[in-house]
Amino acid sequence: MTTLTIIPGDKTVEVSEGMTLLAAIQSAGITLSTNDCGGNASCGTCHIFVQEGRKGVSKTTKAENEKLDTIVGVGSKSRLACQAKVLGTENIKVEILGFDSGR
Ligand code: FES
Repeated sequence: MTTLTIIPGDKTVEVSEGMTLLAAIQSAGITLSTNDCGGNASCGTCHIFVQEGRKGVSKTTKAENEKLDTIVGVGSKSRLACQAKVLGTENIKVEILGFDSGR
């Protein structure tokens, strides 16, 4: 199990290897005001920052990279929560963006 910390709020939850960060965040009882495309890397509304533990998350796919390229405010910590999967190798801290990033 991996400990996922979600900021703002410093909420922590234990998550399993193979879960998407979107599912992991939802398992903490947090609903992103996003998920418009159902997790297909096409809406960009699940854009988050992985602040710590980036090596504990799956690599960015081509589809994810292409979508991230269209989003304002993307940086080196950016991921689409629906595409990034927990590898189980290290704990992860994510930041939920409070401004409907990706829209
Ligand atoms: S939910 Fe649409 S890109 Fe992640």
